Amino acid sequence: MTMADSLSTLKSAIEGLSTRETIGNTAEARQVFRDFRAALTRGEIRAVEKVVTEKGGGHWTVNAWVKQGILLGFRLGKLKAMADGDVLSFVDKDTFPARRLTLADGVRLVPGGSSIREGAYVAPSVVCMPPMFINVGAYVDEGAMIDSHALVGSCAQIGKRVHLSAAAQIGGVLEPVNAAPVIIEDEVLVGGNCGVYEGTLVRTRAVLGAGTILTRSTPLYDLVRGEVYRATPERPLEVPENAVVVPGSRPVTKGKGKSDDWNLSLYTPVIVKYRDEKTERGVELEGWLR
Ligand SMILES: CC(C)(COP(=O)(O)OP(=O)(O)OC[C@H]1O[C@@H](n2cnc3c(N)ncnc32)[C@H](O)[C@@H]1OP(=O)(O)O)[C@@H](O)C(=O)NCCC(=O)NCCS
Repeated sequence: MTMADSLSTLKSAIEGLSTRETIGNTAEARQVFRDFRAALTRGEIRAVEKVVTEKGGGHWTVNAWVKQGILLGFRLGKLKAMADGDVLSFVDKDTFPARRLTLADGVRLVPGGSSIREGAYVAPSVVCMPPMFINVGAYVDEGAMIDSHALVGSCAQIGKRVHLSAAAQIGGVLEPVNAAPVIIEDEVLVGGNCGVYEGTLVRTRAVLGAGTILTRSTPLYDLVRGEVYRATPERPLEVPENAVVVPGSRPVTKGKGKSDDWNLSLYTPVIVKYRDEKTERGVELEGWLR
């Protein structure tokens, strides 16, 4: 059986099990889940996939069954005590143990309270600074740096040579319920304390200045092109390639307490420019760290 065949068998099995109200043979279902989780860990299955067009651009399509598979794992899982030596102890669903990395994985996981769940793919050469957490279904590509206190939420996609700065939070799809994973494309710099949530798509080489928050409800003002980008029911908020986004504010124009009366503003992300030489100098990565 080819790999494509076995993945499509897995997909049908997951879809079948997810629609059942009760699962009779749990041993069989758990084996299906284990095979699915192992394929996620190896990076053979992804929650979203990029379909490259002839012009070189591309769009991302969501594999909805991957989230169904992860939820199946929570449904089948039983609480288990997971002791690590005499000092540390954890209790979690037995279907979601932490990954045990070996030298062969080629990932640097610096000691100090970090965890990568089974079912997350992390490419060789990724650096993980403690404490950080990579959740199930996440895909972290080559050369990425996951800095201290950063979160890579469930099914989030982190591209090649992305720098996820300290305390950056990349939201997941499990809770609250969200259909589309967050996607951070290659060579994006996510500044410290940023929050990227609800399926937001950050295109290649964009820069998110420290403290930028992006959700489905945040309009993104582009000072350079004079446009306002918003999510639609079909498409998430999208940050264009090379955009430099910083946290800003805009006056409140609606409601009884609009800015004329109360002088209020709301937070809003703003594209102040597109990457230039000064930005390159500010966001240059340190090759020796990798
Ligand atoms: C976005 C960033 C990279 C600056 O990029 P840059 O190309 O050098 O930007 P510039 O300094 O030319 O600024 C362009 C405009 O945006 C404004 N601006 C820049 N950064 C800003 C920020 N973080 N918040 C608000 N405004 C900002 C500048 O004042 C300037 O506007 P002005 O011309 O009206 O004064 C930088 O602000 C940043 O956030 N870096 C990430 C730092 C970080 O998190 N490091 C991780 C450590 S673990």
